[in-house]
Amino acid sequence: MTGLATERPAPAAPRPDGGLPAAARTATLDVWLGAALEPLGVAIGGYLSALRASWRTDPAVAQPDADPDVLTLMAAVGLRPGPSAVQHAWFDAGLAAMDAAGTPVAGLVARLGLDRGAALTLAATWWAESDPQFAVVLGCAHDDAGRRHATAALLRLVLEPYEVPLPLAWDDTDPVVRLGVLEPGAGPDGRLRLTPTARRLLSGTAGDTSGSRPTDCPARHGRLVEVVAGHLRSRGAAVALLRGPDAAGRREVAAAAAAAAGTALAEHSGRSDAELRLLARGTGAVPLVPAERLAALEWSPADGPLLAWGDEAAAPQNGEGTRVVDVTAPTVPDRVGAWTRALAGAGLAPDAARGPAAVLGARLALTERAIRGAVSRARSTAEATGAALDADLLWAAARQWPGAGATRVSTRVRPTVDLDALVVSTDVRAQLDELVGQVAMQHVVLDEWGFRTRLPRGQGVVALLCGPPGTGKSMAAEAVAGALQQDLLRVDLSMVVSKYVGETEKNLAAAFDDAERAGAVLFFDECDGLFGKRAEQHDAHDRWANLETDFLLQRVETFTGLVLLATNRRSALDEAFLRRLRFSIRFELPDARLRQELWRRVFPEGVPVDDLDVDALARRDVAGGTVLSAAVAAAFLAAADGGRVTGAHVEHAMSREYTKLGKAWTGSGS
Ligand SMILES: Nc1ncnc2c1ncn2[C@@H]1O[C@H](COP(=O)(O)OP(=O)(O)OP(=O)(O)O)[C@@H](O)[C@H]1O
Ligand SMILES: [Mg+2]
Repeated sequence: MTGLATERPAPAAPRPDGGLPAAARTATLDVWLGAALEPLGVAIGGYLSALRASWRTDPAVAQPDADPDVLTLMAAVGLRPGPSAVQHAWFDAGLAAMDAAGTPVAGLVARLGLDRGAALTLAATWWAESDPQFAVVLGCAHDDAGRRHATAALLRLVLEPYEVPLPLAWDDTDPVVRLGVLEPGAGPDGRLRLTPTARRLLSGTAGDTSGSRPTDCPARHGRLVEVVAGHLRSRGAAVALLRGPDAAGRREVAAAAAAAAGTALAEHSGRSDAELRLLARGTGAVPLVPAERLAALEWSPADGPLLAWGDEAAAPQNGEGTRVVDVTAPTVPDRVGAWTRALAGAGLAPDAARGPAAVLGARLALTERAIRGAVSRARSTAEATGAALDADLLWAAARQWPGAGATRVSTRVRPTVDLDALVVSTDVRAQLDELVGQVAMQHVVLDEWGFRTRLPRGQGVVALLCGPPGTGKSMAAEAVAGALQQDLLRVDLSMVVSKYVGETEKNLAAAFDDAERAGAVLFFDECDGLFGKRAEQHDAHDRWANLETDFLLQRVETFTGLVLLATNRRSALDEAFLRRLRFSIRFELPDARLRQELWRRVFPEGVPVDDLDVDALARRDVAGGTVLSAAVAAAFLAAADGGRVTGAHVEHAMSREYTKLGKAWTGSGS
């Protein structure tokens, strides 16, 4: 693949004027691209020489009255220099060298079915982009130093005399654009550009690998992988749609099938539809795209096989051309098996692995791959810190799974409060403990004892925390998640509710999926905005709002984890939700005894506080939230005034809280 001089057939005649010197070229240059320089050089050089010659003959002699400069310019318009026999010979020898090249680029051009003109345009654009000297030649041919690039009009002008027909502009009816070689929209006069993918293919750096390794594919998908690989090998029906939920391992199936069929997968992101076609047709790679892209892609069987992935609702495009392959998520036993194997691989004794595998498998909807990742992270932590590889470490590692982050519509809260920090009646506390117990014991009751098969829906737990403002509902949600060793995914209602039809459902679906995968508690704080009563349908908006409620009802039923709802307006909630609640825990305003407890605990250890009259403070009938606000305000007053919190500071702060609440402050003991 080295010097062109030795590889191209020697032309019969000497090199004509205008031919570009075949200097030593780098060893990495594709011989086809090098050979293309020959006909391009002859044609562009021949045109430039003719242009210069026309400027040298002085047309002013023939038309004495005209401005000689204008005449010189005009004389070159429409110039189509007929090539000499020698130029033709060199031109044809160059084409022959291209045809004989048999290099990767030659193969690519052949597979794309580009005709002569398109192939030379591709070569000219590549040279213009990659070699400043060639770009200068183009600037001269344009007679414009600002246009040192290939244009459709110039190439047509110079190649026409060699019987290479070219369009005045390339658009997406032409294969070079449709197949992703040239960027669309250049026009006759505009700069032709290669697409990034074409550029990488031509420079031999297009190596494309998909994110997942074939070995990541769970063994339970073995048959599916064979089916999909068979589809890829047969290159028959164009599209195979891998359909299933997020955690099913659709991409892993795609990667394993491609490997089994001996083809590469082409990642879709950052690539135009045309570039995906370029990869498919030009390199035989199989693009892997999300189902949403199918409609716009207009893939045809001639483009080769294509893999798409989508959720259960993904609809195959253009009917019979699409083969649907259902990829299911791992069931609880699948997950328990994956944890067991991964833990055994990490050297944990079967007895020690059994407990964590059962709990983690039941509670976290992770893929097999995510499970392996979690175990390997936990193992590294154990090795680095000398700690034992136990359930706590595994929970922590599972929660760090990269897919488990906060999403657009939710915030991830790592619980820092404890159930014991809550000051609530023994009854409320007992209900909270029961709630925690129901979630924590899911793996025993549902899986070991087999209740899961009896409960096709409603395997998860939905609990409502209701009561007046400031009574500790949000705090309790965090504490419950903490007691379950889970994070809290707090759904931000303002971000979920979209004015665009269908967007709200999508956002909500994302929140549920995230929580399921992340093994997080899903928390709808101030939930009445979403779970409110379905409206009587008056207008289109009501209909959509009702659809959102229907979606929520459905998704709440299939959710396998814990959903917490908090509100201070229980009566505003839709009956249908209330029926699905496993717990409805009412947070009352604290009685005097609880208020004493709240006051006793409200100042952190480090705060210098005088002996406060807790009994007197507790006579004020306020919620825990108000106690906290007053304590914080008193602390600020104290910090600016002597540095010790006194009864007077607290009294003053309380009077302010009363004003905020719209209550009358009648001095001490009111
Ligand atoms: N029962 C309680 N026990 C201990 N602290 C409490 C209690 N109630 C309130 N607090 C304190 O008040 C703060 C605010 O309470 P929280 O936000 O949990 O109330 P809420 O019931 O969610 O109120 P809202 O209905 O306004 O959202 C808590 O972070 C906590 O410090
Ligand atoms: Mg709250």
